Amino acid sequence: MKDYFEKLTNEIESGLVKGIEPKKGILEQAMHYSLCVRGKRLRPLLFLTLIDAFEKNSLKYIDIACAIEYIHTYSLIHDDLPCMDNDDFRRGMPTVHKKFNDAIALLAGDTLLASAFEKISYFDMSHDKIVNILKILTHSIGKDGMAGGQALDLEFNGNKELIFHIQRKKTAELIKGALLSSAEIVDMNEKDKGILEDAGNTIGIAFQMADDLLDIEGDEQIVGKKLHKDKKNKRPNSVLFFGKDFVEKEIETSYTNSINMLKEIKINFPPFLNLIKKMVYRDR
Ligand code: IPE
Ligand code: IPE
Ligand code: MG
Ligand code: MG
Ligand code: MG
Repeated sequence: MKDYFEKLTNEIESGLVKGIEPKKGILEQAMHYSLCVRGKRLRPLLFLTLIDAFEKNSLKYIDIACAIEYIHTYSLIHDDLPCMDNDDFRRGMPTVHKKFNDAIALLAGDTLLASAFEKISYFDMSHDKIVNILKILTHSIGKDGMAGGQALDLEFNGNKELIFHIQRKKTAELIKGALLSSAEIVDMNEKDKGILEDAGNTIGIAFQMADDLLDIEGDEQIVGKKLHKDKKNKRPNSVLFFGKDFVEKEIETSYTNSINMLKEIKINFPPFLNLIKKMVYRDR
């Protein structure tokens, strides 16, 4: 299984920088930098391992996997900007605006987002499937997805009833989008897609709860980003509002529920299930 993940990760990492030429100037330098620093590549791995779960040879779909990682990396570059979370450390390195400057970080994020959709639109696949994946991913990061969730995160006024709603939008939607993109490729039926969607929400929210736990008690060197900031920034961190015991139990329940949902739709590919486990029981 280790070899399997290593191979996929290597393919993703070489795909990410394909066509980006740092020699061409500061914009491409910043994009290249943001993609080379160590990320866990969870969303592209989810997308690819779910395709393999249906015995479809995921390696053909590396470009779409990379597009999904572009979208995620864009969201992180902007999330770290001084006008948002104001962080100077990400993926074990200075954030893009620290290494370059705010304007270049903004533009590097914008360009990654545009490049993601460019990559998908040019992908050699039926136009119906391309359009459907574009619909899934644009929805997952728009007003009802990541960007909407990020706005609620910034505006949070201490109403703890909103926390899981914010987590679903800012984090779970894109994770679910990666899963539904694979479902599109493997022609999953509508009923199973509905169950996969529920599993995606559950996994995504658990992943953000695990991120909240790391902010409280993680090790900055291992996690590779600034921690212990959510309280100061008055962010909707679930641990701050519901306590560590509650959140740990919720993660456990979410994990069990999501695995049961996946079983129900006959997804039992060990690397995929293993990835889900790694995502909710995070150490980084
Ligand atoms: C961090 O995502 C942002 C959240 C949604 C919590 P990851 O933990 O997947 O970050 P990288 O890609 O590994 O840096
Ligand atoms: C960010 O949530 C989610 C995104 C959409 C980028 P956080 O602000 O908690 O993510 P980290 O902790 O900075 O990675
Ligand atoms: Mg944030
Ligand atoms: Mg942040
Ligand atoms: Mg966080």
